[in-house]
Amino acid sequence: MIQTFETEKQELPLAKQRILTGDRPTNPLHLGHYVGSLANRVRLQDSYDTLILIADIQALTDHFDTPGMLRQNLHELCLDYLAVGLAPEKTTVVIQSLVPQIAELTIIYLNLVSISRLRRNPTTKAEMVQKGYGEDVTAGFLAYPVSQAADITAFGAHLVPVGDDQLPHLELSREIVRRFNTLYGPVLVEPEPLLSNFPRLVGLDGQNKMSKSLHNAIFLADAPQVVTRKVMAMYTDPTRIHVTDPGHVENNPVFIYHDAFNPDKEEVAELKERYRQGRVGDVEVKRRLARALNEFLDPIRQRRLYYADHLEVVDEMLQQGTQRGRYLAQETMEKVRQAMHMDYFPSISFV
Ligand code: TRP
Repeated sequence: MIQTFETEKQELPLAKQRILTGDRPTNPLHLGHYVGSLANRVRLQDSYDTLILIADIQALTDHFDTPGMLRQNLHELCLDYLAVGLAPEKTTVVIQSLVPQIAELTIIYLNLVSISRLRRNPTTKAEMVQKGYGEDVTAGFLAYPVSQAADITAFGAHLVPVGDDQLPHLELSREIVRRFNTLYGPVLVEPEPLLSNFPRLVGLDGQNKMSKSLHNAIFLADAPQVVTRKVMAMYTDPTRIHVTDPGHVENNPVFIYHDAFNPDKEEVAELKERYRQGRVGDVEVKRRLARALNEFLDPIRQRRLYYADHLEVVDEMLQQGTQRGRYLAQETMEKVRQAMHMDYFPSISFV
């Protein structure tokens, strides 16, 4: 069953329900991440036990040749989290590679999934085409959705907020959980998707979703001049040649951004009206958008600067979060071992 934010599961009090999201530490976060995911996480952290996994091991599946880059991005990603308002006392941030239980679970789950099942996953299929892997795809890449199932179940997450590209992975996680629980005993929590009710944000080009690799993104850390420059070069309404031509507001990225980020709804309504009637030029609409975006980003930039100056807070969040993540994962691992009759010496901890 697919859940939306309006119909939340009521078996456990919300505060007890655990939510897991994950990010690969490959790219700085942009406005598309903000509207598609970060804003929700900030909202959800007040009512749920919220975990965020920094998936450096998963990122290795297509970046095994540049691990140093992942390391650099780890702090940047955390700065983005803090900058948008994720709070260390509400959100647990976990570094995946420091939770070996995830790797243990992955190995166990690999027995519960066939290779042909992995090959049928539409998301990895599309990624393999895009990356040109062909038959030379690595075992690690093909199987990353299995390790994602380990991510989710290690922490006993009830809900996973997802965009539609992640749904096939979640479906696989659910299959693995059912298989495991049927074979060995009811140990794992079957996660449910929490579908984002915000459609993907279109990029500056108006053609594709916002993405770093398509060079159509505004990053949360972009300086004001950079934002203004990007906005002034935005794609608008290709059918409109003269200012006096009636313009199209629908599907026009400049207005999509106005709707998403300009809090002055009257200004936006007035601009739309004048645009439709051919009484306002693109330059004015864009200037006002650049101003609105910069006003939106300013507090985010300020918090980012603050934490960049207090990296000890960032490290503390990562260390404490990872500690808690390991604790939760170890609890799961012990139940798994028990269910599989592999708890040989339960009272001894081998170091
Ligand atoms: N595959 C996700 C992405 O590329 C990242 C991810 C890793 C994840 N582990 C996860 C997402 C666990 C949700 C739950 O965006």
